[in-house]
Amino acid sequence: MAWEWDAETYDTLALPHELWGRRTVARLALTGGETVVDAGCGTGRDTAALLDALPRGRVFAVDASASMLERLRARLPDVGEHLTVVAADLRDPLPITEPVDAVMSVAALHWIDDHRRVFGNLAAVLRPGGRLSVDCGGQGNIATVEAVLRQILGDLPDVWTFAGPAATREHLEAAGFVDVDARLRPDRAYFAEPAALHDYLETVVLGAHLARLGPDERAALVHEVARRLPEPAVDYVRLEVSARRAG
Ligand SMILES: C[S@@+](CC[C@H](N)C(=O)[O-])C[C@H]1O[C@@H](n2cnc3c(N)ncnc32)[C@H](O)[C@@H]1O
Repeated sequence: MAWEWDAETYDTLALPHELWGRRTVARLALTGGETVVDAGCGTGRDTAALLDALPRGRVFAVDASASMLERLRARLPDVGEHLTVVAADLRDPLPITEPVDAVMSVAALHWIDDHRRVFGNLAAVLRPGGRLSVDCGGQGNIATVEAVLRQILGDLPDVWTFAGPAATREHLEAAGFVDVDARLRPDRAYFAEPAALHDYLETVVLGAHLARLGPDERAALVHEVARRLPEPAVDYVRLEVSARRAG
């Protein structure tokens, strides 16, 4: 990744990701003994929920960010053999050699442009019949924020890939998945306090754009995006995916 997350601030924010995580874990209908990969686990909020749901199971927590994984380790110091932390890029084959029962991922895959490749890497670690449950930004995600950014910055670099259900189904089937259910869910997040919107934009939404700027320009960009948004909200559209690796 070309920039690093502010993992400490990330963990202080009220994140809509918590709800996205609960929905994504619920779709797996776990029974307690499975081995599950949390792909793009970040600071480990969903990893902790998975460990609670898997008293006889195991979790592989995978992320490419050193700062996010450092927070995850601090959050989950004593889980022993139930947890394996894996520093890895999801664009590459995962260094997990045993077949797992399920893979889940929350708010991570839109950071990767080649979805067919990442789905292939996830299929490779799943046992035949293993389940996949994904949440990420989908087609139309944060369109208002992007429009405001374009007003301010002009042309934007390709930072995110917000895929739609049809392309996602095609990529998943090419990667060896069946029973694919891919759908979009508009899910606007409102911020009651201006400071909360500011911190959220700075830490979660604009990080990749801010990394290209100097410190003064960064503060000005966050302020200007917050000022120009038509309402104190981020217009999320989630891509929710369930699928099964062919048996
Ligand atoms: C918005 S955070 C979401 C973290 C966590 N799943 C949550 O819901 O709080 C996105 C995460 O995806 C990870 N990520 C992005 N691209 C990645 C890649 N190519 N390989 C591994 N992790 C990646 C980031 O490091 C970051 O931790």
